[in-house]
Amino acid sequence: MDIDGIISKMTLTEKAIFLSGKNAWETQEFPQYGIPSVWLADGPHGIRRQSGPADHLGMNESNKATCFPTSSLIANSWDILLSEKIGEALGREARFHGVQVLLGPGVNIKRNPLCGRNFEYFSEDPYLSGKMAAGYINGVQKTGTAACIKHFAANSQEICRMTSDSTVDERTLREIYLTAFEIAIKESSPKSLMTSYNKVNGVYANEHHHLLIDILRKEWGFHGCVISDWGASDSHTEGVRNGSSLEMPAPGYYSSSEITEAVSNGCLKMDSVNERVHELLDLIDWTKITATAMPKTVNHDEHHSIAQSAAENSIVLLKNEENILPLKAGIKVAVLGDYAIHPRFQGSGSSMVNPAQVDIPLTVLKTTGLQIIGFSKGYEGRKMPSRRELQQTLTLAGQADCVLLYLGLEEAAESEAVDRKDMRLNANQIFLLEKVSAVNPNVIVLLSGGSAIEMPWRNCCKAILYIGLSGQAGASAACNILMGKVNPSGKLTESFPEKYEDTPAFHYYMPECRKAEYREGIYVGYRYYKTNGIRVAYPFGYGLSYTEFEYMDLTADESKVTFSLRNSGDMDGAEVVQLYISKYDSVIFRPEIELKGFKKIFLKSGETQYIEINFDDMAFRFYNTKTGRWETESGQYRISIGASSEDIRLYSDISIQGTEFLPTYNRLELPDYFSGQIQTVGQDEFNMLCYGKHVPKTDSNAETNILSRNDAVYQMKNANNLGSRIVFRILDWMKHSNDKKGKLNLNIYFVYYLPFRGIAKLTNGNVNMEMVDDILQIINGKPWSGIKQLIQSFRKAKQEKKIRDSHLRTEKK
Ligand code: BGC
Repeated sequence: MDIDGIISKMTLTEKAIFLSGKNAWETQEFPQYGIPSVWLADGPHGIRRQSGPADHLGMNESNKATCFPTSSLIANSWDILLSEKIGEALGREARFHGVQVLLGPGVNIKRNPLCGRNFEYFSEDPYLSGKMAAGYINGVQKTGTAACIKHFAANSQEICRMTSDSTVDERTLREIYLTAFEIAIKESSPKSLMTSYNKVNGVYANEHHHLLIDILRKEWGFHGCVISDWGASDSHTEGVRNGSSLEMPAPGYYSSSEITEAVSNGCLKMDSVNERVHELLDLIDWTKITATAMPKTVNHDEHHSIAQSAAENSIVLLKNEENILPLKAGIKVAVLGDYAIHPRFQGSGSSMVNPAQVDIPLTVLKTTGLQIIGFSKGYEGRKMPSRRELQQTLTLAGQADCVLLYLGLEEAAESEAVDRKDMRLNANQIFLLEKVSAVNPNVIVLLSGGSAIEMPWRNCCKAILYIGLSGQAGASAACNILMGKVNPSGKLTESFPEKYEDTPAFHYYMPECRKAEYREGIYVGYRYYKTNGIRVAYPFGYGLSYTEFEYMDLTADESKVTFSLRNSGDMDGAEVVQLYISKYDSVIFRPEIELKGFKKIFLKSGETQYIEINFDDMAFRFYNTKTGRWETESGQYRISIGASSEDIRLYSDISIQGTEFLPTYNRLELPDYFSGQIQTVGQDEFNMLCYGKHVPKTDSNAETNILSRNDAVYQMKNANNLGSRIVFRILDWMKHSNDKKGKLNLNIYFVYYLPFRGIAKLTNGNVNMEMVDDILQIINGKPWSGIKQLIQSFRKAKQEKKIRDSHLRTEKK
């Protein structure tokens, strides 16, 4: 494609139209210039190609595709090559389905266990997330499919995600929330990146000059196409000015008219428009060239096996008292729990795949050589079992040598657009476990879910196999681990705290509030627990094996560590070795340890391997907000090699020559950050961290009763107009009655938290922004003039659309 030539020939109107989508999934085509339209589809753990009615929340059906384990589970493999292999399979399937851009991976940090979308993300740790994402992207792009890393940035909650403002200090932003993007972009050059819905420090992510131009393009050298999340664009004119190339899905002609107008009256530079068009053309051209060179076939059986081996390498054995696992063939087993016949193997929302096939635990168990003496649901949804049902279940459990009990989070707890209300399993599941363990102590729990769960019940069972959301072949993978055909080797990439109150953002995570203050700063996950010596149920990096590993002979210098690892048990198996760095005499505040390297090593029983891990340019750096640069402190560092963050096996101190810098922080002004006790940071201290001495004025408009485009539907509760308040009441009642039943109705959630601008951005051009303003007049208590205006705007929009359509048709000739 002669991109420069095309740009010189396209009219301004065509360019402006090109910069937003044609419909829910496709870009605009211009055959007269040889520009085809490309298809974008989710992502991340399977292809969601909708041929029928389209939606961005996974509510309508999509074509059948392989459902791989979710990123939250794959991360537990700590295996970059595995991530690459899955990426490659996804890329091939995308090609097969006619998809050119795969909307994934998601590398947002698991800031808090309640985020409904945690299952789509890799970890609470940015280094690990970045490395796993790089593997995935390299795999996808090998096949000629473009990857789209998302959601940039600081988007760690679902409720109010389209209207919330993440307030986060620059160091935390860089070290925790951006590092995963940085690693993945530098190591795998994704062809595109998706901006998130939220604002970051007062500016929409899709219009954020500092994020999109200063950091992404200038510092990291990203040359790809920036795509807005579906409906995340507020003003695409601002987006184009600040580095966002493509607005999705299809806002009609309103955005393009704004862009042409802004250029014509000198408010937007033509150069910015051309740059964005160039980026989008580059993406289209790349997919066109690479795609023609690749075969378009898919072997579904092979992909099912890849999904299975991915799950086998990622499932985590959390507990194995008296070595109850692996099970011996022939023993009498009772299988309990609804999830044994209706497994939870993925989350809901835009990532939801229509699986090509699904392995059912109970069916697979019957092929393992175990003597399955019966099955009982024991629980269903949130209902408590009746006395009769419970009795039947307990009688069955009492007759078995051991009980396999399938538990986990419910579907409504893990979805896009929704956050969890607590970290618990449903009460009926815990009740069942307690009753069963009283009649048979040999209980093995198979636990599903894509984020940390409270486990006060863990003493009621002898083993816990954390199967996560393990994809369509997850049941077979779990059975192979139960039977010892596969030695478990997954390790947690998210800490499992004892209770929600222990989590660092416990006081700050309030998704219903539009201001999302990241007051815990850099102390996310294990960085907080370790620094404060808080006991967790299962720590970051933890996972058991059927064999044992011995760590020996550490050497460390400023460039690398070396040590030996021996499989000293009876079974072949893989170990995840983890490298953490600490600095105890630091002049800045730091967490106790930080992950800076890892490897997954497979060893035969009795085998020893010499291991070398090199430090990279991120190992010793910290972001200095005073100088606006990454710096390295000189002096002593402790290098620790561990089997988990709580199980350090070897350590050594080394000396590092750093950079010269002036003191960054004043210890007296930031006492909580220096002590690491950040659960109750006051407003003044947080302001000091974020802004220093000059705190900007904040938006005091959040509780307004005059609603505007960027306020959300649920704010109608305060509207001037009685009718609007009644509409809100009805919606609110619908939402609450669904919540109560544990039913997931994404439509209601979506409408409830939708900003009014979304009515224009997500209705395929049928409603424009002027009409939204008219609707707002009605809501704000001027119903008659609002209705009159609305009718006029509707007529005007129809007329304008006709003109634009014919204009485009003429130009396409
Ligand atoms: C999600 C994105 C997704 C897009 C398209 C949005 O709601 O946040 O992750 O790629 O929809 O389905």
